[in-house]
Amino acid sequence: MKKLVVALSVFAFAAIAFANPPTIDLSKAFNVKSPTKKAVIFQHATHQKNNQCTDCHMDAKGGKDLKAANGQKLNVGEVKGTSNALHKDFCWPCHEKKQVKNGKTCTTCHK
Ligand code: HEC
Ligand code: HEC
Ligand code: HEC
Repeated sequence: MKKLVVALSVFAFAAIAFANPPTIDLSKAFNVKSPTKKAVIFQHATHQKNNQCTDCHMDAKGGKDLKAANGQKLNVGEVKGTSNALHKDFCWPCHEKKQVKNGKTCTTCHK
């Protein structure tokens, strides 16, 4: 019994420490209030294959603090209009740098 409790609590801890979702609805994560485009379902797992965690996160364990293209902590603010911080300072610069095919085409992300 004692062993089981220990095993379960280790498992629970791991689940909290490493919650690393394979896909993330970014319209929810960034609380987009009056969307004009389809919500972006971010392929987190796919992005982890060809990028380092610290390409996108301030901390190697991930979490809420994202890294902007200039290496500083990304300040997202209100996500509204085409000239929002996620486009300009996060998704688009890396897609440009890594020459992702159709990486700035609206329907690549809003679909
Ligand atoms: C191409 C960019 C990118 C890469 C690479 C990436 N992530 Fe993320 N990750 C994100 C975005 C965007 C979010 C959503 C942030 C939010 O909800 O505020 C996120 C969210 C997370 C979260 C959940 C944060 C929370 O509290 O909801 C964890 C944990 C995480 N990432 C871990 C990792 C780890 C570990 C790696 C490397 C194996 C990694 N990420 C690689 C972009 C990336
Ligand atoms: C650190 C670099 C980097 C950042 C930041 C980044 N991407 Fe990507 N993305 C890539 C690469 C590289 C690919 C090409 C696919 C591959 O080979 O991994 C890609 C491909 C994609 C694709 C093509 C379809 C797919 O899943 O393969 C979508 C959609 C996409 N990214 C969405 C986003 C969104 C949304 C953001 C911002 C929240 C973002 N990406 C931020 C590097 C990045
Ligand atoms: C690389 C991925 C990516 C591409 C390409 C992209 N967007 Fe976005 N866009 C996002 C993310 C991430 C958000 C914030 C989350 C969300 O709205 O679901 C966003 C939010 C928006 C918003 C604010 C929220 C809303 O729904 O009104 C607008 C407007 C927008 N995008 C327009 C465009 C237009 C127009 C294009 C083509 C020129 C485009 N986007 C291309 C990733 C992308």
